[in-house]
Amino acid sequence: MALGEATMDTRIFITGHRGLVGSALWRHFSAQGHRQLIGQSSSELDLRDAVATAEFFHRTRPQIVICAAARVGGIAANAESPADFISDNLRIQVNVLDSAVSTGVDKVLFLGSSCIYPKFAPQPLREDSLMTGALEPTNCAYAVAKIAGLTQVTAIRHQYRLPYISAMPSNVYGPNDNFDPHTSHVVPAMIRRFHDAVVRGADTVTCWGTGQARREFLFADDLADACAFLVANYDDDSPINVGTGTDVTVAELACTVASVVGFRGDIRWDCGRPDGTPVKRLDVSRLQALGWTTRTDLAQGIKDTYEWFVAHQDSYRGRSVHAEGPSS
Ligand SMILES: NC(=O)c1ccc[n+]([C@@H]2O[C@H](COP(=O)([O-])OP(=O)(O)OC[C@H]3O[C@@H](n4cnc5c(N)ncnc54)[C@H](OP(=O)(O)O)[C@@H]3O)[C@@H](O)[C@H]2O)c1
Repeated sequence: MALGEATMDTRIFITGHRGLVGSALWRHFSAQGHRQLIGQSSSELDLRDAVATAEFFHRTRPQIVICAAARVGGIAANAESPADFISDNLRIQVNVLDSAVSTGVDKVLFLGSSCIYPKFAPQPLREDSLMTGALEPTNCAYAVAKIAGLTQVTAIRHQYRLPYISAMPSNVYGPNDNFDPHTSHVVPAMIRRFHDAVVRGADTVTCWGTGQARREFLFADDLADACAFLVANYDDDSPINVGTGTDVTVAELACTVASVVGFRGDIRWDCGRPDGTPVKRLDVSRLQALGWTTRTDLAQGIKDTYEWFVAHQDSYRGRSVHAEGPSS
């Protein structure tokens, strides 16, 4: 069953429904009127546990599954715990995909990531660049697990003739993001850093790198909309890129965040810190040809994320970890 054939009582299991991507999926399907959404926190159902996962699928019988549960982290977390990244992600995805097949789930959407393309793949990144070259060493363990997940989805399509699919989102940001200064991605890191500067009355914020690297950013609610679109409209062996197709320099991102947060001081750049790849952008022509494009521009997405951050000062992820480093 594709989502187009689903009713508001179709049972849709969103794994990782409290995370950045999963919570956006939950908002999206709730807003559409879906009444039978299934979500479990990791403490209620540890998806690394094969027996518990299989038992849960047999009991709840989801008809559509969107896989947004994973161990996710930045460079430092990947470098510190590569064994956990490969082991947890392999187990989570194998258990979910095996359980989906054995209980006859109609459609599964598995999420890869733009960061698992080869380090030196041509830009913008096309889907056929997957597995054509060496990976970025800092997240190799995570990437190998994700590539195994994509491969399992294609294998299931061939062996069981099931319409399971995979998508490759670019950098995602939005409500429920991780604002821990040690493990966060660049958008939530900047939001917190500029917000803290405003609160402290600081007149400079220093960001890492030259600011000249170009990156693409996708609002989580747009990703959720794309996932629903793909479940309804996409049925192909190849994973499909999901992004805006446009990029900005990190310096432009910093100016946008500063403007939204109301920081009026100087932004300085610590050029001793690495920029990483000069450009990282997805080729989204296949998705656009199907008829889907993003709705939220960067300034609006950052405004919505910042409003969420301000409204959740007592509960946002990473609030107990205090900032350090060059800001201010
Ligand atoms: N963030 C990005 O920029 C980005 C980009 C491309 C692709 N993606 C993909 O999108 C997916 C979701 O990422 P995200 O950024 O939303 O991550 P996230 O905010 O860290 O959320 C991950 C979720 O996974 C759940 N989870 C982790 N381990 C689990 C376990 N053992 N059992 C059950 N649930 C578990 C967590 O549940 P609890 O909260 O209950 O612990 C959490 O809600 C991942 O597959 C990621 O590769 C993300």
